[in-house]
Amino acid sequence: MNIADKLVREHRLSDTEYAELISNYEDKDLAKYLADEAVRIRKEIYGDAVYARGLIEFTNICKNDCLYCGIRKSNPNAERYRLTKKEILSCCDIGYQLGYRTFVLQGGEDGYYTDERLADIVRTIKTRYPDCALTLSVGERSFESYRLLREAGADRYLLRHETADAEHYRRLHPSEMSLENRMQCLRDLRTLGYQAGAGFMVGSPFQTMDCLAEDLVFLQEFQPEMVGIGPFIPHHDTEFAKEPAGSVELTLFLLSVIRIMLPHVLLPATTALGTLNPIGRERGMLAGANVVMPNLSPVENRKQYELYDNKICTGEEAAECRGCLANRMKSVGFTLVTDRGDYRS
Ligand code: 5AD
Ligand code: FES
Repeated sequence: MNIADKLVREHRLSDTEYAELISNYEDKDLAKYLADEAVRIRKEIYGDAVYARGLIEFTNICKNDCLYCGIRKSNPNAERYRLTKKEILSCCDIGYQLGYRTFVLQGGEDGYYTDERLADIVRTIKTRYPDCALTLSVGERSFESYRLLREAGADRYLLRHETADAEHYRRLHPSEMSLENRMQCLRDLRTLGYQAGAGFMVGSPFQTMDCLAEDLVFLQEFQPEMVGIGPFIPHHDTEFAKEPAGSVELTLFLLSVIRIMLPHVLLPATTALGTLNPIGRERGMLAGANVVMPNLSPVENRKQYELYDNKICTGEEAAECRGCLANRMKSVGFTLVTDRGDYRS
């Protein structure tokens, strides 16, 4: 039996099988076969629904120095900002009226947001919108911190593992950071009952097909409820400025593989994919994705949350992004819905 069929039938492969499978991502027939299977599987579970997550990028201040990231602490050109609680709540108000039932608070690792401050914001949002899910994406914190935030009402947590290969991890991050701690955080989130999201960039510097195979094996073992993947895109103020961007085709191929491996997974077609290709997010849906994360941040701050160059939607109002994505999803036969979009197990 060939490897693609084996994946479709058994939903799991070995690392060497994954490496071989994804090395053939340029084979158009293979990509089409996997994409069709991925869409078939996602339709069985989620129908034609696409879930929207209202993304609020509430601070670009970060104590970390990830080499690929435009808001790394050692970038003096990044204009720093931090939204107030009031500003965050106003994003939620606008978002709720537009039909969002999940809010994602994403930010750098900003020391201003102590457990107390963040828990207060979480609690307020969950009290005001009891029918909404709240997702946090604020990096590595202690078990106790994750516990307090969960207690305050946070439902989900996004923490991309970035790469499951320890050596590759070291080449993308400063020495203070480790894959081990990252993985511990993911396990802690799981223990605390969060719906957990892992993920990685496609085509980050030094990445090999073997690294990606390790990422897939990690996902297969960890079984996250959400997986965020998008192409690496260089940022002009980082030392990876001259590195090539990741491949759109490989990203799409991996979306299909991940959907088949984890049939129930909540899988976004990311903004980075939409940045590299004008119809990247639509193509993401046709490869097996079922989530989009339109921006709800104030327009004044969007350009400042620049993780990579040429990020889309930085001049758009929240309503425009929602409407735009609804149309885009419709153009490929999917429906953007007003729903929390919980994991269906
Ligand atoms: N290109 C693409 N994605 C990036 N991220 C950070 N920097 C870049 C970049 N230059 C991703 C990381 C992070 C997520 C919030 O954004 O994977 O986890
Ligand atoms: Fe923002 Fe299209 S999604 S304008």
